[in-house]
Amino acid sequence: MCTLATPQLPTPDYYYYRWSAVASVAVDDRFATIRWADGVELQAFDLWLRENAVDAGGVDLATREHLIDPADLDDSIRITAAKVTGDGAVEVRFAPDDAVATYHPGWLRHVAEGNFRTESWLPELEPWTAASLPAPPTHDGASILKDDAIFQAWLSDLVRFGLVRLENCPLDENFTFDLVSRLGAIRDTNFGLVWDVRADIDLAGTAETNSTANTNLRLGPHTDLPTRETPPGFQFLHCIKNEATGGNSTMADGAAVVAALEAEHPEHYEALTTLNWVFSNRGPGIDHRWTGPFIDLGVDGAPLTLRAFYPVRGFPDMDPHDMPRAYAAMRCFSQMADSDRFKLSSPFSPGDLVGFDNRRILHGRDGFESGGHRHLRGTYIDHDEVRSAMRVVNRRLAHT
Ligand SMILES: [Fe+2]
Repeated sequence: MCTLATPQLPTPDYYYYRWSAVASVAVDDRFATIRWADGVELQAFDLWLRENAVDAGGVDLATREHLIDPADLDDSIRITAAKVTGDGAVEVRFAPDDAVATYHPGWLRHVAEGNFRTESWLPELEPWTAASLPAPPTHDGASILKDDAIFQAWLSDLVRFGLVRLENCPLDENFTFDLVSRLGAIRDTNFGLVWDVRADIDLAGTAETNSTANTNLRLGPHTDLPTRETPPGFQFLHCIKNEATGGNSTMADGAAVVAALEAEHPEHYEALTTLNWVFSNRGPGIDHRWTGPFIDLGVDGAPLTLRAFYPVRGFPDMDPHDMPRAYAAMRCFSQMADSDRFKLSSPFSPGDLVGFDNRRILHGRDGFESGGHRHLRGTYIDHDEVRSAMRVVNRRLAHT
């Protein structure tokens, strides 16, 4: 049975849950086993139920955050009785204080189905090659700020493929900020909240040039700011003007390159996932450093963080005997990322805005001839903000 949730039964959060009446509940030692008519089952532990008891002091009604310090969740707490109420909620009585709590069956159901997990409400990541994704998924930038469906599709492709493009965006210098700040807090860096990428030929070769990006040089496949403990999660580049010849944008899916490397060159995969390098930003007035492997697999393989930016890869932090294989492995990886098998190449036209996962996608640029103006506006945002925005949009559109 599915009816709308009653406002009289709050949950330990502010999310919306469809009412999903429970069929039965049985107490077995320290667990309440909750079952629905379609066979879905949840084993709920006594202390976990106690700290999620909204109407019995477990959760603050204003913040919907837990109130009980783990030191007070002692082993004398037990379930003494449990039953299904007339409308399908679950009522539990606890010892030793005889507290009674009633649980929203839709909230219990979302736990049973694992929808509390980090990956829920997000599209699954989909590795790609130049054959499976010949061009960046593309949406209409002129409508993105006013059309929920386009916004959702754009965000979904960004999370799924780690790469998405908008065309026909306004040539307004604030557009990048206006769009990306809709996702959450923009990630500030020493480049600023929003930064310009232009060919700064007059400054080339001087200490005033703060990044290889601000030259007309080719940029091989790389990820930005591996010098940070947590490099920015996503990067957005908005083309305002492009009169230069050449300078195509290149993109390769690092997740696919890593998978191919593991299968085809396991010795290089082992070297890149275990041998450490020190990355450092050597600009005037800053001293950012981080030590880590070229391929950082994170916890259980996620999130993948590639530390692949040779302009700031400073020092091999490894036994000298490992250095030959470390360089051989990097050479192989970079050649794969730059090959037609993995690399997409597309021109940057005014009004294009490309977004990509800065820790997964290897981006680069062909060299270009100076003489015409080329101006991009860029910004970063962390993975957390994008994933939060994706969950909110997906949940909202699923319930409207
Ligand atoms: Fe870059």
